[in-house]
Amino acid sequence: MEPKKLAGEKAVDYIENNMVIGLGTGSTVYWTIRHLALRVKAGLHIKAIPTSMSTARLAEQLGIPLASFTEIDRLDLTIDGADEVSPDLNLIKGGGGALLREKIVAYASERLIIVADSSKQVASLGKFPLPVEITPFGWENTCKQVMLLGCESLTLREKDERPFVTDNGNYIADCKFGRIDSPDLLEKSLNAIPGVVENGLFVNMADQVIIGTEKGTNIVE
Ligand code: 5RP
Repeated sequence: MEPKKLAGEKAVDYIENNMVIGLGTGSTVYWTIRHLALRVKAGLHIKAIPTSMSTARLAEQLGIPLASFTEIDRLDLTIDGADEVSPDLNLIKGGGGALLREKIVAYASERLIIVADSSKQVASLGKFPLPVEITPFGWENTCKQVMLLGCESLTLREKDERPFVTDNGNYIADCKFGRIDSPDLLEKSLNAIPGVVENGLFVNMADQVIIGTEKGTNIVE
């Protein structure tokens, strides 16, 4: 079976009755959402906070009850994908452009489970360009400030030859830093730049990673 499908579906085993769940974004969590919908149809009672408009649409279509931070303070568990996972479970996320909502939801969760195929496991972070969400106002200058932090090359993400716009109305700069030895320091330094809204480094946030392979799943903690 497809490794992403195996990992995504396995995560549903960790969802218990009456939990509030954070639903991540991407092609691996897609399988989590589909599988969760079957459990909901069979009587599982949960509420879910989606991390993107696309996840909200999919969950709604499949009959998963949605909630928001108006009514919820803490989530029991968030299940999300990743673009890179280091041996100490630090992550690069944001390949789908949903990193801001993903980090808000993960931060409000008791546990964060990451689902991924083995191609996402890396010895050290940094091969995947780090997504940095920036405001449209002053984006040119914000990018220059990001470059001063040691970024080797930066690309403003585009869609249909226009800047890609996130669910929050912002742009994404995809930043190649080379090997990231101090993700905690880089995460804080980036977020200290005015115009940077958030970045895709998730440091000390993941509790568990479910890796899908051709043969099954491996749990990394
Ligand atoms: C979206 C993300 C995704 O979780 C990440 O890009 C992994 O996606 P996929 O499961 O499709 O490989 O961070 O912002």
